[in-house]
Amino acid sequence: MAANRKILSLPGDGIGPEVMRQVNRVVEWFDKKRIASFDVTEDLVGGAAFDKYGTPLAEETMRRAMESDAVLFGAVGGPKWDNLPFAQKPERGLLRLRKDMDLFANLRPALVFDPLIGASTLKPEVIEGLDILIIRELTGGTYFGEPRGITTLPDGTRRGVNTQVYTTPEIVRVGRVAFELARKRHNKVCSVEKANVMESGVLWREEMQKLHDTEYKDVELSHMYADNCAMQLVRNPKQFDVIVTDNLFGDLLSDCAAMLTGSLGMLPSASLGAADSSGRRKALYEPVHGSAPDIAGKDAANPLACLLSFAMMLRYSFDMKEEADLVQRAVKAALESGARTGDILQPGMARVSTTQMGDAVLKALEKLC
Ligand code: IPM
Ligand code: MG
Repeated sequence: MAANRKILSLPGDGIGPEVMRQVNRVVEWFDKKRIASFDVTEDLVGGAAFDKYGTPLAEETMRRAMESDAVLFGAVGGPKWDNLPFAQKPERGLLRLRKDMDLFANLRPALVFDPLIGASTLKPEVIEGLDILIIRELTGGTYFGEPRGITTLPDGTRRGVNTQVYTTPEIVRVGRVAFELARKRHNKVCSVEKANVMESGVLWREEMQKLHDTEYKDVELSHMYADNCAMQLVRNPKQFDVIVTDNLFGDLLSDCAAMLTGSLGMLPSASLGAADSSGRRKALYEPVHGSAPDIAGKDAANPLACLLSFAMMLRYSFDMKEEADLVQRAVKAALESGARTGDILQPGMARVSTTQMGDAVLKALEKLC
């Protein structure tokens, strides 16, 4: 089939390549079934890119990312590169992609699949049917704020600085994404900051409220301090629909939300830029989990977060809702068949490898199609 959907695949380090391989198999399946074709190019990022090019993201890779319809990302980092200078660390490759593609809205849905209810450390009634969406601001705040750095003081001691900073447009554009998506869900947005101790939090709260009052009165808006939100996420997560928060709080709260679903290995994400005049957005899709060096290369990682990130790509970049639902249903069916990677293993279930989990998803796709 003619392929005009340009995807740049960046498997990265650690378990990245292993989980991405399962996505490639699903891409091939879509092609074979003549459902959809994708023009996939693969390149290096993170430590793998450093080893080959001396930088965690080569200029040519950055250029390709800018030209693609969507970037699929695995994971970066590992002990081998831990002691590199800051600018060459694998994580800088990912942060540069986010910043230069201006991917300010990071969507992290935490969805509990019924077969996995028992895999969560929380009581079944607390998480059954859970479906929340964390929207994390991704190109501002502490991650990119200036001044930053480590300096040596006259007395020989050192000083490390990072800056939390947000402007009105940065808050409003991510707020808008939250309100728009809430309208397609349960119409509730909870905006999270620390307005009790931070000026940037006061501004965040005021701008969110103003945006709500002028453009989104139909959506229910509440505000919460980030520490309370962390507590509420484990106490009663079903009170939330959409949570919108800054870059650093979003990093923390999304890991917390991920564990509600049983494992970090289940959580996908989409990072989106602004829509251009033709409605097209730059976009990057990645599992929320990291490179898991301890199990890398052992065919033991859970590929479902990466497969669900691929489903998000179908939904948000290519408007392929049915196909996205199909992948999601196949993941659910694979879990129902009893397949479990180590991270979601439950008594009485079969422990499968990364490849075997891919097999289970492909088998389910065949059945559902
Ligand atoms: C995430 C990760 C990244 C982050 C790292 C790998 C730079 O933890 O996507 O949540 O801190 O944003
Ligand atoms: Mg994180």
